[in-house]
Amino acid sequence: MFEIVKRDGLARIGKFETRSGVLETPALLPVVNPKIFTVTPRELYDEFGFRALITNSYIIKNNENLREKALEVGLHEMLDFEGVIMTDSGTFQSHMYGEVEVTNEEMVQFQKDIGTDIGTVLDIFTEPYWTKEQTAESIEVTLERLQQACDMKGEMMINGVGQGSIYPDLREDCARRMATMDIDVHPIGGVVPLMEQYRYTELVDVIIASKKGLNPNRPVHLFGAGHPMLLALATLLGCDLFDSASYAKFARDDRMMFIDGTYRLADMKSLDCNCPACRGQTLESLKKMTKDQRTKILARHNLYQITQELALIKRYINEGRLWELVEIRCRGHPAMLDALRRLKSHTEFLERTEPLSRDGALFYTGSETRARPPFLRHAERIMERYVPSASKAAVFPDGSKPYSRAYEWEFHKARRAGYVPIVITPFGPVPAELDEIYPLAQSVFPEITDAETVASMDELTFNFLEKMGFEEVIEGCDVPEDGELTYDPDQIRARAIANYQFGIEAADALFRGKIDIVKSRKTGKIRNVISDGEHILSLRAPDGLYTLKPEGAKRILEKVPAPFMRVAVNDDSVPFVSNGRNAFCQFVLEMDENIRPMEEVIVVDKDDNFLATGRALLIKNEVMSLKKGIAVKVRSGNGDDA
Ligand code: GUN
Ligand code: ZN
Repeated sequence: MFEIVKRDGLARIGKFETRSGVLETPALLPVVNPKIFTVTPRELYDEFGFRALITNSYIIKNNENLREKALEVGLHEMLDFEGVIMTDSGTFQSHMYGEVEVTNEEMVQFQKDIGTDIGTVLDIFTEPYWTKEQTAESIEVTLERLQQACDMKGEMMINGVGQGSIYPDLREDCARRMATMDIDVHPIGGVVPLMEQYRYTELVDVIIASKKGLNPNRPVHLFGAGHPMLLALATLLGCDLFDSASYAKFARDDRMMFIDGTYRLADMKSLDCNCPACRGQTLESLKKMTKDQRTKILARHNLYQITQELALIKRYINEGRLWELVEIRCRGHPAMLDALRRLKSHTEFLERTEPLSRDGALFYTGSETRARPPFLRHAERIMERYVPSASKAAVFPDGSKPYSRAYEWEFHKARRAGYVPIVITPFGPVPAELDEIYPLAQSVFPEITDAETVASMDELTFNFLEKMGFEEVIEGCDVPEDGELTYDPDQIRARAIANYQFGIEAADALFRGKIDIVKSRKTGKIRNVISDGEHILSLRAPDGLYTLKPEGAKRILEKVPAPFMRVAVNDDSVPFVSNGRNAFCQFVLEMDENIRPMEEVIVVDKDDNFLATGRALLIKNEVMSLKKGIAVKVRSGNGDDA
């Protein structure tokens, strides 16, 4: 069973329950060669904290001593490892050396017999140079073998390896067909050659295509990915498990892995590493020791690089900043930069899991940052959900934030003269009313702008101004000194935020009759919106977005048909949710597929009656497939005084 504990876009911190304990993801499984322990499994567990490893059942089966021992005492005792043991099946050997002399049935049975926790089907490795026809045919064979493996797996979990070479449609189709099978882990296979050849853009396409089809309630393993340089990017794309043989292979070759690449000891000018393995060593001392001693130290160094990077990735997920780490990491190699640039062609897919707001500010690290989903989301919402409050516009250059404080007097003058103040920002146009919303206010850009960002700002602004059909557009500095303010800017702001956050139809339902606005005496910011005497919305200071109150939710239920903004739960869940308890995935019957993480939602019963308001943590396809975990963090139930 897999539970998502924390998410950042497609990236997730999860808990994967196995019979040998709960594994926290993202996790890397060191590859243990059953014939030679470069680092012993016991050390991997005790010293490095690895709670899972992967070894090869094909090698064990083909070696009489190992086979007899494994069958007699079981894999855990043979390796002296109490954590989770995954085994591979011989597929990689067939990729390296041609055909293997075993059947899928034999391999699955053997893995069961030696007590593997997670066994692997004997899949067919789809090579990147294969034709589409050859690839499609071999996928059929892999899927048949997978069905056989599922039928015989018993207590063992099964790795259903997704294949499809470099063909995104085959990858997605293969994934979709596996999603309905009784599989426990989804490795993405056949990607080792792409990684060896630095074909990272294709790797990105393959991972995304697979993620589109896979079942979100199972961890995704990127088979053969173990270089620390790649881990942040692969995690951002939704991979949960990795494995590394390189830590030992490279060590035997006198090569050291670092976050920016792999270096030969012979080429290095200094040993500038302070990991526990390198501490006290110099290049000279390493070169002087015996090969065996050195291999041990380099392997440990390589493992420390991996564990360090994984810990950092977890921290960035927890802080909601994994994109930033990825953007930094992808500058380590031009091929990685290509991978980062490739993400732009997948922004629409990535937007589906992008939270509505995050705790920290968005940091711009370069023109690739504009491929992040919040940029696309703003461009769409501003075009579809903004209604200008006047027929003329005055445009202002980007400045300090929030704009309505920096430009307080200028905005006032523009409004008096009948112009909507609009700031031209790297996100595109930002009307004054929306200037406190995440990430428009909670973002930091360099003052020296790059040409690509300027071009994109201009294009977005041009399209926006044209769509809004203003009769006149002038520079903010040219606004004439005349007119009289005929409206309350707070009223305009309150409504504009609702349009932007919930859509115009929902905002129409929310705002009726007389609107009273309660402002903070300290900050002067809007706090509560009262409509017809009822408290419908509260504005959150950190992200400038609304919290939906029960009265507001009821108005939306009345006016906007289901499933809009709804998460419907079954009868068992009703008493809990209406008392303010969270809504759990396993009780959800239906959900609006347009709900994004951290969005305000209305929890209803099966007949669309109001139960509570709250914030969604997951999107529909995750909620519908997960058997554990919180779907909606409920704020106030029916019984609440709200
Ligand atoms: N190890 C690396 N790639 C693969 C793959 O595609 N299938 C299996 N079974 N093991 C692998
Ligand atoms: Zn080191």
